[in-house]
Amino acid sequence: MIDSISLISGHPMPLLGLGTWQLRGQACKKAVQMAYELGYRHFDTAWLYQNQQEIGEILRELRVDRSDIFLTSKIWRDSLTASLVKSQFQLCLDHLQMDYVDLLLIHWPSPEVPLTETLNAFMELHQQGRVKSIGVSNFDIDLIEEARAIAPISVNQVECHIGHHSPELQAYCQQHQVAITAYCPLAKQSILSHPTVLSVAEQQQRTAAQVALRWLVQKKIIVIPKASSHSHLKDNLDIFDWQLDDAQMNLLDSVN
Ligand SMILES: NC(=O)c1ccc[n+]([C@@H]2O[C@H](COP(=O)([O-])OP(=O)(O)OC[C@H]3O[C@@H](n4cnc5c(N)ncnc54)[C@H](OP(=O)(O)O)[C@@H]3O)[C@@H](O)[C@H]2O)c1
Repeated sequence: MIDSISLISGHPMPLLGLGTWQLRGQACKKAVQMAYELGYRHFDTAWLYQNQQEIGEILRELRVDRSDIFLTSKIWRDSLTASLVKSQFQLCLDHLQMDYVDLLLIHWPSPEVPLTETLNAFMELHQQGRVKSIGVSNFDIDLIEEARAIAPISVNQVECHIGHHSPELQAYCQQHQVAITAYCPLAKQSILSHPTVLSVAEQQQRTAAQVALRWLVQKKIIVIPKASSHSHLKDNLDIFDWQLDDAQMNLLDSVN
């Protein structure tokens, strides 16, 4: 069973999702199908990933109940003016063949377009019911503060994993009910051979990937590991019915 957290928008968001960057074509469809059949209900995509058509197709082929899944998409940084937000978003929905997304993110901040213009366009989509929750990605504290003054920001998606995390950003987000989604939660596998991670994994009789993901979800940080094999997808699901103890959490916090 995948735990969820409640966003400031009032909608629940599963703490585990499938990251789909670099999954394309048949490989993307296969990974999404395996994930869905294993119990994943949250999928992370973006205009930039060029895979929304395949994701939409396989979810339709599987006759998925739309209200049963949580889908995140993102508007790329070259399309943050009001008119480009609307046109890129419409293309996202067309490719997905969906009426709405659960969460729409500014993929990357851009100094070229005022944040007010972009977020007001996001708010319009929200008011039309085509975006359930609004969020940002790769924003620092100052930028989130600016964004929060314009629109309710449910999520900030940032790179976050053992050896690369910001307690200051986490404290700020927690205080203002901005959920954090950790991208690259496995540091693209590079953290999985770290001796501290391996020693905690051995103590817990879990895999290094499970320890890396558990460390995040125990902090109520959403994780979106990308996985394309059945064994990895299954491994990453098994992170909710056990706990790291305080000493293990502190040890993993201190990994540089
Ligand atoms: N907002 C942004 O700017 C941004 C930037 C980067 C990424 N993202 C999002 O974050 C997602 C995840 O990040 P990522 O794909 O860069 O890196 P990641 O999830 O940290 O790592 C993916 C790698 O880990 C492997 N893996 C997965 N589960 C494993 C397991 N249990 N044991 C061992 N290896 C395992 C995968 O292998 P296999 O594929 O062979 O299973 C793949 O090589 C992306 O897919 C994307 O949705 C967002």
